[in-house]
Amino acid sequence: MYGGKGGLGKTTFSAATAYYLAKKGYKVLVFSVDPQASLSDIFQRDIFGKGQVEIMPNLYAQEIDADRRIAEYQGEIRKKILDMYGLEKVPDEIEHYIQAAAAEPAMEESAIFDEVVDIVVSGDYDYYIYDLVPLGHALYYLSMASVYDQWIEKITKLREEMEEYAQMAAAIQRKGELEEDKILEELQYIRNRINKSSSILTDKVKTAFFFVLIPEEMILLDTRKAAGLFTKYQVPLSGYIVNRVIPEELANQNIPDYLRHRMEMQRKYLKEIHEEFGDEVLAEVPEFERDITGLPMIERMAEKMFGS
Ligand SMILES: Nc1ncnc2c1ncn2[C@@H]1O[C@H](COP(=O)(O)OP(=O)(O)O)[C@@H](O)[C@H]1O
Ligand SMILES: [Mg+2]
Repeated sequence: MYGGKGGLGKTTFSAATAYYLAKKGYKVLVFSVDPQASLSDIFQRDIFGKGQVEIMPNLYAQEIDADRRIAEYQGEIRKKILDMYGLEKVPDEIEHYIQAAAAEPAMEESAIFDEVVDIVVSGDYDYYIYDLVPLGHALYYLSMASVYDQWIEKITKLREEMEEYAQMAAAIQRKGELEEDKILEELQYIRNRINKSSSILTDKVKTAFFFVLIPEEMILLDTRKAAGLFTKYQVPLSGYIVNRVIPEELANQNIPDYLRHRMEMQRKYLKEIHEEFGDEVLAEVPEFERDITGLPMIERMAEKMFGS
């Protein structure tokens, strides 16, 4: 996973890492939940909401369309209501409720989370590269697993207690099993999925979380704050990658003051970064002469990150 503030290079590094691993012969999926469809931009292919698209041999990319997932949920809920009550049409007031629920922000988060769980749990690939949305969100997703877990535990317990009463009542009244069974089953299914995926996401052996930064004061301040949050949420941080470092060899050439000043500024913050994060700094990646789009540029980036 690549995390960090917007615009620092998460999508670029995700694509380059996926490219590098695919070239080494691993089957790789790079995916994102970003509605801005940055993977479509960098691979120069329209992949948004189109499932897992092959970019080149071994390399697949996916951009999750949360709205579509929500529409699918709505369809499932309608079908369950129709089946359960043997209706021809969903009553207007219930339809109204389904529409209103879909507009809740929490619904979007949960749709995204659900699809990420699907992807991670499926195990069809050797490597999954998760191109995260900016930091706040990323932490939110990572902490969501434990929140969900607590919540489901409470509900499951409540259900189990109700089940006992229901069985007692059924025994007295000599009635059959109740619908409660099915609901409990569904909750336990959700819970298992969440446990499985969160155990993958927080496992230091299976998951590497890289933090992207650039040598500038504001970013360094943000990174310090983020490091604190990672500890709090027990995100297993694997290291820092510094992006957009102006190549040092330029200093020996006849360059304008403007560039010389920028290089001085970068040196100052690079020094601080190395002092503060030590050997957790895994790489310094140079500023390229242009933006990184298309496979040939992605290949150049991969060489800078991993060596040729
Ligand atoms: N080392 C670099 N040299 C030149 N351009 C870069 C470099 N790293 C990133 N970029 C460009 O910066 C922009 C933002 O990068 P991106 O990976 O989309 O950031 P994020 O995903 O963190 O928002 C893109 O246009 C990308 O091509
Ligand atoms: Mg991005």
